[in-house]
Amino acid sequence: MDLTKAEEAILNGEQGEGRQKAMELVTALGKIYGAESLIDITSAHLSGASYKTIGDGGLKYLEDMVSGGAKVSVPSTLNPVGMDRERWKEMHISEHFAGKQLRIIDLYGRMGIRTTCSCTPYTGANVPRFGDHVAWAESSALSFVNSYIGARTNREGGPGALAAAILGKTANYGLHLDENRKPTAVIDADIDGSVFSHSLLGQAYGMLKGKGVPYFRGIKPGIEEAKALSAAMAASGSVALYHVEGTTPEAGRFDVSELEAIPIGKKELEDAYSKLNVADDIELIAIGCPHLTEKEMHDIASFLRGKKKVRDDIEIWFCTSAEVRARCPEDVRIMEQFGKVLADTCMVVAPIEGVFSRTGTNSAKAGNYLPTLCSQKAMCRDISALLGVVM
Ligand code: F3S
Repeated sequence: MDLTKAEEAILNGEQGEGRQKAMELVTALGKIYGAESLIDITSAHLSGASYKTIGDGGLKYLEDMVSGGAKVSVPSTLNPVGMDRERWKEMHISEHFAGKQLRIIDLYGRMGIRTTCSCTPYTGANVPRFGDHVAWAESSALSFVNSYIGARTNREGGPGALAAAILGKTANYGLHLDENRKPTAVIDADIDGSVFSHSLLGQAYGMLKGKGVPYFRGIKPGIEEAKALSAAMAASGSVALYHVEGTTPEAGRFDVSELEAIPIGKKELEDAYSKLNVADDIELIAIGCPHLTEKEMHDIASFLRGKKKVRDDIEIWFCTSAEVRARCPEDVRIMEQFGKVLADTCMVVAPIEGVFSRTGTNSAKAGNYLPTLCSQKAMCRDISALLGVVM
């Protein structure tokens, strides 16, 4: 790989151990994936923030980076952690877990990262522009910014994104390059247009193809629908970029007339639904994967207004960012009559196993991860059907 003199100096440790480690990682990844050079990035979004997922090994790695003087050099935000920083006791979190988690957040903060602890930074805290090269981890968020905004990022892991954030550079390969952004299949979607139907569409694509760059026809997603579609395809498969005819900014660049066209409609959506629905009753309802937007908070509050919760044996969590929670006080007041509006965290990265064993969600992404990462039997339905279980 061609490195500039300044980049070589970082690799030789002339700017401290933290930057040297970061350069070692970014160049190693670049060599594996055949990058010829590094490229400047404008932002980073980091995952690997929950004590549940990174454990003491991850905590030690962060301690080492901080003591090596590592600081980010581009605006950087952080994914959800294992608990709400203020309301962790209400989440059945132990003192031990909370202590470790707060230390992890503090370490990220010391490196100059905005500890927003949300997987939807693109709705406010960290919004790339079209054509920006960025280094984002969090599979749902990076797929959203690649696809809906037209920024460029690979599917970074937590350490890779942190290293890129420290350097302000990443290796130039994969989805940073034009040739890898071309569609690989056309999907003719026949869905009802709801957010939940986009979640099932993404699940169905993941089950049918798993990877590639799908080009959708027949849908017109807004932010909430694209958020659900991005998350579902990133979890049921490994999709990091898609195009939607007439909606996403790069779709018009491609001639798709020669590509295989695959229909996804009623039958495929039913298969997706069956795969995600195993539990017939639940102990926890967890909504907000990816984190709820302001619009979704308004919609849920409107749905709940005037209703009564009749099943007190089922806990309800609404997961969003601290920013959105602060902006919607009236919605929060209504939602709190039914459950907890939690910030900084989610049902997957919080240690819910051991407290709950059957969880309902409206998200295909959570529906995939609740069984594998949280030992849950999952139920996956749209929000009104899910909340209908307790009313
Ligand atoms: Fe976000 Fe957690 Fe889902 S990080 S995308 S709410 S699994």
